Amino acid sequence: MVHYNASLEDTEFYKLQRRVVLRNCGVIDPESIDEYIAVDGYAALGKALTSMTPAQVVDEIKASGLRGRGGGGFPTGMKWSFTAAQNNPVKYVVCNADEGDPGAFMDRSVLEGDPHCIIEGMALCGYATGAHEGYVYVRAEYPIAVKRLGKAIEDARAYGLLGKDIFGSGFDFDLYLRLGAGAFVCGEETALMTSIEGNRGEPRPRPPYPAVSGLFKKPTTENNVETFANVAQIILNGADWFASVGTERSKGTKVFALGGKINNTGLVEVPMGTTLRQIVEVVGGGIPNGKHFKAAQTGGPSGGCIPASMIDIEIDYDNLVAQGAMMGSGGMIIMDEDTCMVDIAKFFLQFTVDESCGKCTACRIGTKRLYELLEKITDGKGTLEDLDTMETLCRYIKDNSLCGLGQTAPNPVLSTYSRFPEEYKAHVVDKKCPAGVCKSLLTYVIDPEKCKGCTACARVCPVGAISGTVKEPHVIDAAKCIKCGSCMERCKFGAISKK
Ligand SMILES: Cc1cc2nc3c(=O)[nH]c(=O)nc-3n(C[C@H](O)[C@H](O)[C@H](O)COP(=O)(O)O)c2cc1C
Ligand code: SF4
Ligand code: SF4
Repeated sequence: MVHYNASLEDTEFYKLQRRVVLRNCGVIDPESIDEYIAVDGYAALGKALTSMTPAQVVDEIKASGLRGRGGGGFPTGMKWSFTAAQNNPVKYVVCNADEGDPGAFMDRSVLEGDPHCIIEGMALCGYATGAHEGYVYVRAEYPIAVKRLGKAIEDARAYGLLGKDIFGSGFDFDLYLRLGAGAFVCGEETALMTSIEGNRGEPRPRPPYPAVSGLFKKPTTENNVETFANVAQIILNGADWFASVGTERSKGTKVFALGGKINNTGLVEVPMGTTLRQIVEVVGGGIPNGKHFKAAQTGGPSGGCIPASMIDIEIDYDNLVAQGAMMGSGGMIIMDEDTCMVDIAKFFLQFTVDESCGKCTACRIGTKRLYELLEKITDGKGTLEDLDTMETLCRYIKDNSLCGLGQTAPNPVLSTYSRFPEEYKAHVVDKKCPAGVCKSLLTYVIDPEKCKGCTACARVCPVGAISGTVKEPHVIDAAKCIKCGSCMERCKFGAISKK
């Protein structure tokens, strides 16, 4: 007889996870303010407004060790203290809900599953920094998030949790939504504010930093969704509670969008300091089809890869940077031996080429030239000299771009080249793709010893490249073959391979 008495926490998938940011997602009805209140919602705001000074709120966030979850990992309390120190009657709070990284949907889940926790975090930030108005900049491709946030803001207003004299404290704070049109660069903080102001979303130089001159040139605190999602919990449970989880310099948990060659894909929230091995082997349930872990790409198009030799690394901001990768906003793509590292660098670079706003020459033209170099290499036309040019160009783009998009665009190239130089050289010198991905460098061949002449491959080939008579070994005409791989998938005798 089977006993179904194990809790979710006991499952392999959840046992190493700890849900702080995602605590209410899937648990409460996100469209019900009453359900949020029933799980201590708005209690932190009440506590702060009735028993803490703004400076105490800033100090609590500082003491918690919370760092920005939008990518850079800047200490949140310190950021708030900069805005708080500005002597200006008009200040703003901005929530960055643009989430443009390919494959990332951490913020989306919080916005859709627990919108009130963002409102509460932003109101706490407003109180702490002296701001009375806030904006959530959310991408229009997230219609459910937009709808639920809109309802949550209306409900909070109706309950007096936004608006005038909140909790009878004399503190006024209100929130507005602004929709982004889906440009990756609009997630960069200065471009985001330019976009809210009604202009084309292009980055502007820093300094001045937003804390001094941000939205509408007023002191502004801008934080990521996941950063705000931690705030109310810190105020409610105390900085020590939050800081008890994580590593020395990275506190709390981090939500990752786990994807790629891994059995369990989806959102996972783990304490900072969890090792990559634990994420891959326990939470992620290992690599499918008996393949081996090759590397993990973190930080999306701005990040880098951690090779299998570093699988025991504790995931935190500083460890990742030390290894030439970065936390980023939480995208984590797992790769096995069938992933070509040049191809993966090319994939991310294609994204940044498309998303460059075009303001700086180094980014606009440099990323395009870099992409062309990678294309030359994956086409089997690269030279050793091209590898040197590639590195020089990477440095040039990094050093001469105005914003983080251009400054980090070469990271996937630099990181894969430094970790897998032999793979780049195999493309250039041997004209081979060791992972068998780059089509120009592949030839499909039939092993006459293994071929039974069943004709299955010839029947599936879309271009008639396979010939042979029944029960006789078949042959592929390399000149006709378009390298679709259908024949290899179809052959039951393992007679077809890529060379
Ligand atoms: C090209 C680019 C895109 C970015 N996209 C986002 C984004 O979608 N969401 C986000 O929170 N931060 C994004 N950032 C980082 C923001 O500029 C900013 O550092 C962050 O929102 C600050 O919040 P935090 O301190 O809470 O991390 C992006 C940065 C760059 C350079
Ligand atoms: S670095 Fe690229 S994205 Fe950033 S401002 Fe320059 S051109 Fe635009
Ligand atoms: S790889 Fe595709 S095109 Fe080439 S021989 Fe096989 S089925 Fe035909």
